[in-house]
Amino acid sequence: MSDRYQSLIQNPVGQFLVKNLGLPNPPELRRWKGGRLVDGTVLLGGNGDLTKSLPTILKNSGIESTNVRADGKRYQGLVFDATGLESAEDLVKIQEFFTPVMRQLASCGRIVVLGRAVNETKTTGAAIAQRALEGFVRSVAKEIGANGSTANLVYVSKGAEKDVASTLEFLLSAKSAFVDGQVVRVGHVAGLAAVAPADSAKPLAGKVALVTGASRGLGAAMARTLHRDGATIIGLDIPPLAEDLDTLMNELDGRSVTVDITADDAPAEIAAALTDGVDIVVHNAGITRDKRLKNMKPENWAKVVDVSVGAPQRITDELLKQGLIREGGRVIGISSIAGIAGNNGQTNYGSAKAGVIGWVQDLAARTTEKNITVNAIAPGFIETEMVQTIPIGIRTAGRLLSSLSQGGQPVDVAEAIAWYANPGSGNISGNVVRVCGQGFLGA
Ligand SMILES: NC(=O)c1ccc[n+]([C@@H]2O[C@H](COP(=O)([O-])OP(=O)(O)OC[C@H]3O[C@@H](n4cnc5c(N)ncnc54)[C@H](O)[C@@H]3O)[C@@H](O)[C@H]2O)c1
Repeated sequence: MSDRYQSLIQNPVGQFLVKNLGLPNPPELRRWKGGRLVDGTVLLGGNGDLTKSLPTILKNSGIESTNVRADGKRYQGLVFDATGLESAEDLVKIQEFFTPVMRQLASCGRIVVLGRAVNETKTTGAAIAQRALEGFVRSVAKEIGANGSTANLVYVSKGAEKDVASTLEFLLSAKSAFVDGQVVRVGHVAGLAAVAPADSAKPLAGKVALVTGASRGLGAAMARTLHRDGATIIGLDIPPLAEDLDTLMNELDGRSVTVDITADDAPAEIAAALTDGVDIVVHNAGITRDKRLKNMKPENWAKVVDVSVGAPQRITDELLKQGLIREGGRVIGISSIAGIAGNNGQTNYGSAKAGVIGWVQDLAARTTEKNITVNAIAPGFIETEMVQTIPIGIRTAGRLLSSLSQGGQPVDVAEAIAWYANPGSGNISGNVVRVCGQGFLGA
């Protein structure tokens, strides 16, 4: 699915119009195609609980880093350990690190700030400094988006400092091309631990992943990406899409399950298809039935809510009850920026997708015994068939009103799912991360 505006401005006439009319000029985002995770050096700064261990963590991930800035050198990433900041005055240390090096950030570069969540700070000053990081990251992300660069914040809980590798690999690499201005929390649900994958090239080897709505769009990209990382895929979709689903599952050596997830017997039927157990469950299936509230039909309200959150809850409960989600499992819900920012004509969808957030946050606290993590991704504007039903004006705005001036690709959401699924992300639970290029249509 292409963004026509972006392809039109790529030619010389388009570039001439962009320059002379001051039109948005979306950068070409780099996406990971294999090989090294980070092509270049990451400059480290700050002073806190991660400062000593960061070079080794990055080295073990095959990422080159230094804490000595060299004039004129381009850096692919800038990582600042802000966990030691304890007052409003301390915040100047961020400025002192970043200002001199901002011009040295490569295109499609990455800024990652590491901090401590406010509920874990011990003084008022530390609370101010640590909460300020969110404003810093969201603002700097807006400054660097024009060349495809991103900025994100990771709040690392005390004791979880050793569990940040998978998150740094994701946020520093081209896998996170459309993840921007986000706050990730590592270790904030007690009782979990990360496990380094045995094979970093195939971190999901030996894992079984169920992806609902897998025949097309985001679900198909998730199936492909989880398969790339070594997982065996069980794709699920509605019976009318059986042929498309079978084609994809044949390509991926996977297995098809055709069922409407809202059917009364769907939980039992899905459980019966997973008798050997499952490691990763991605509740991706979703629909829209947009109407202003004054025109909303009860059946369209009920269907949207049931597909998005009612059915995922019933299916997960059944899988947990039957013990089919294995030790170290992953449950991943798909929310939407509509569930965070709200959207005109989407009271049903916005409610349902906000409900997904409530569901994962509640469930995350109840599955720690088996080290099962529960998280959500909230996609923004991603180029799939679903968004083709959005009126053209809103669609164009959806693309351009992001810090990266474009819509995302299905693989951007899929990479975020693969990051949650990675064994190294075993200490990440109860998170809701937007894959939206810092777009906030509706806010
Ligand atoms: N594309 C976006 O910009 C965007 C933005 C935010 C959230 N999302 C969410 O991401 C998910 C995937 O979206 P997409 O754009 O790929 O949509 P899509 O319409 O291309 O694909 C959705 C898939 O879900 C399946 N599905 C729908 N109802 C089902 C049911 N009852 N039982 C089983 N399968 C069912 C469909 O058959 C389809 O294959 C959805 O949850 C959607 O709400 C998408």
